[in-house]
Amino acid sequence: MSSEAGSRSGELELRVDGEPVRVRAGTTVAVAVMRARAGVTRRSDRLGEPRGPLCGVGACFECRVTIDGRRHRRGCSLLCAAGMEVTT
Ligand code: FES
Repeated sequence: MSSEAGSRSGELELRVDGEPVRVRAGTTVAVAVMRARAGVTRRSDRLGEPRGPLCGVGACFECRVTIDGRRHRRGCSLLCAAGMEVTT
């Protein structure tokens, strides 16, 4: 986390694929990924097609990412935290 992270009221900084992303507190991980990676959270296993959040309510699993080393976390159901490391 950079020394700037959290310096502005109500904002925090996390990293998506190593890139810093600044969001408002209360933003979901899926939204942070959409800002950083144009909505691509993963590639399909079979054809490598880009996949991204679809339902936004935790039902489709299309928003799965790795968060702080834990795989298959649903980004639409988790809020961003300062210093969080997200990998698509
Ligand atoms: S967008 Fe469907 S489970 Fe997250």
